[in-house]
Order: sequence, then structure tokens, then C-alpha cells
Amino acid sequence: MPVLKIAVLGSGKGSNFRAILDCIRSGQLRVRPVLAASDVQGSGILRLADDLGIDTEFVEEKKFRTRLSEDVEARLAERLVASGAELVVLAGWMRMLREPLLAAFPRRIINIHPSLLPAFPGLEAWKQALAAGVAQTGCTVHFVDGGMDTGEVIAQSEVPVLPGDSAETLHARIQEAEHALYPEVVGRFARREIL
Ligand code: GRF
Repeated sequence: MPVLKIAVLGSGKGSNFRAILDCIRSGQLRVRPVLAASDVQGSGILRLADDLGIDTEFVEEKKFRTRLSEDVEARLAERLVASGAELVVLAGWMRMLREPLLAAFPRRIINIHPSLLPAFPGLEAWKQALAAGVAQTGCTVHFVDGGMDTGEVIAQSEVPVLPGDSAETLHARIQEAEHALYPEVVGRFARREIL
């Protein structure tokens, strides 16, 4: 089976990308990252990719904060297609996606979200979980559609909310679960188990 080519899009520190890279290095994942793109210059994702000689793309968007201008998104879609990526992995990407990109990769864009969707979509889901007083939260890998964290769920991992948890301790526990779940799901795509 040929190695699955992935592109990773993120705006943050890149710990999920690092978890995927670690699994590639240890031989658990037969995946090749062909492009890392970010809308934040110097972000963790771009630095990780640079260190490994993976192609990078800085996505410059000046007009909007929560989405991309149509021309910027169309250019990114072209770049992703040209990279040969078969799966687009969002890892801390903070902008909604729309037609140009969604149409270029039908059922081939996935995201990880720090709650058990459909509970707590949107920003800082771990804080939402704490405020709601739930005993269990977790993380979700889902297909990306035009909504905010609304796409079809692929896999979830549960995380307990413990007495005395702060936003920081709960977020850290959820991220640990993310770092196991995301490579596992990418592996299912690599083995062509998800069509
Ligand atoms: C993760 O917590 C993920 O759930 C959310 O953004 C965060 C990205 O973290 N979508 P990182 O950049 O992978 O460390």
C-alpha cells in the first residue's frame, strides 16, 4: 500500500503535528507529510516542518480573522492539490473553511476538537466543559464541513474531569488524549480503512 501523503494546517503550537511526526518516526504510521501550512508566521507547525525539510506555506490573510478571503482560500486549495496531499489534517487551525477547499478534498479534511462533539463546539471547549460541570469530556476527530465543528464524527476519546481541575490541568489531559487519538485516526486513513 502506498504511503499516504498528508498536509497539516495549524495556527498554534503544533503539539498534534508533533504527535503525528513521532508516530511516523517510530514506524507506527505509514504517512508522509508533504506540506505544512499556517496563517501564523513562526508558528510551531511551520517550525517543526522547517526542521524536517517539509515544504511550508504561510497563508497571509489580512481581511478576516475567522475565515479566509475567497482568493486566499482558492490559492491554498491549489497549493494543497499541487502538493499531492491525499488527506488534509487540521491541527489547531482557527479558521472556518469554505467551498474552494472543501470542494477540492471531499471527505478528506479532518479536524481534532477538544470536546466530545456535539457538546461544546467553538473556542476553549475545555472551559465550556468546566463551566457546565460535566464529569466527562474528551476529544473528537471529525470530517470538516462548512459549519463550526459540525462535520461527521470519526472517533472520540473520553477524558474525566477531576475534582479540583483548572482550565489548564483539564486542557493538558485532553491534549494528551488528542496526541493518541489523532495519529490513530490518521493511521486508519493510511490503511485505507476510511473511504
Ligand atoms: C488542540 O487542542 C485541538 O483540539 C484544537 O486546537 C488545539 C491545537 O493544539 N483544535 P496544537 O497546536 O496541536 O498543540
